[in-house]
Amino acid sequence: MNVTLTVNGEIRSASVPPETTLLVFLREHLLLTGAKTGCDIGDCGACTVIVDGKAVNACLMLAAQADGRAVTTIEGLATREGLHPLQKVFEETGALQCGFCGPGVILTSKALLDENPDPTTEEIRTALAGNLCRCTGYVKMIDGIHEAAKMMQSATPALPAPEQR
Ligand code: FES
Ligand code: FES
Repeated sequence: MNVTLTVNGEIRSASVPPETTLLVFLREHLLLTGAKTGCDIGDCGACTVIVDGKAVNACLMLAAQADGRAVTTIEGLATREGLHPLQKVFEETGALQCGFCGPGVILTSKALLDENPDPTTEEIRTALAGNLCRCTGYVKMIDGIHEAAKMMQSATPALPAPEQR
């Protein structure tokens, strides 16, 4: 079957067997290998991507279910201006070690911050519950997400005062 998605702002399509997961579609048909294959059964979060604003396990979603939807992978996060604040902070603070869980953790965090720009530590812990990291404790990640939230808020232009609107 033919599947067409908007991936990182670009329309991409491929003809695939109907049982193809979104993870295989991204990695093997579009050659976007940022989403990792860990457990392949929804346990580790290494395959996390964002579909229509929500973090999902790409190993549990069929490519056909994502047909016509907008997908963000880690490859789509940096812009010409540079790395996304979450990428920058994680790099600078050493929040990751081997990095295998990184794309999934960063995309889960991005989906969280897009919906909730100033999450509590508890809310961050809850959001990250499905992203397993075998190398680190989660302390630096959580600190990094708070830090990125601050950077993103200070980069958001303030609304003009009512009399200037
Ligand atoms: Fe998808 Fe582990 S590879 S959750
Ligand atoms: Fe190695 Fe998380 S940094 S799995």
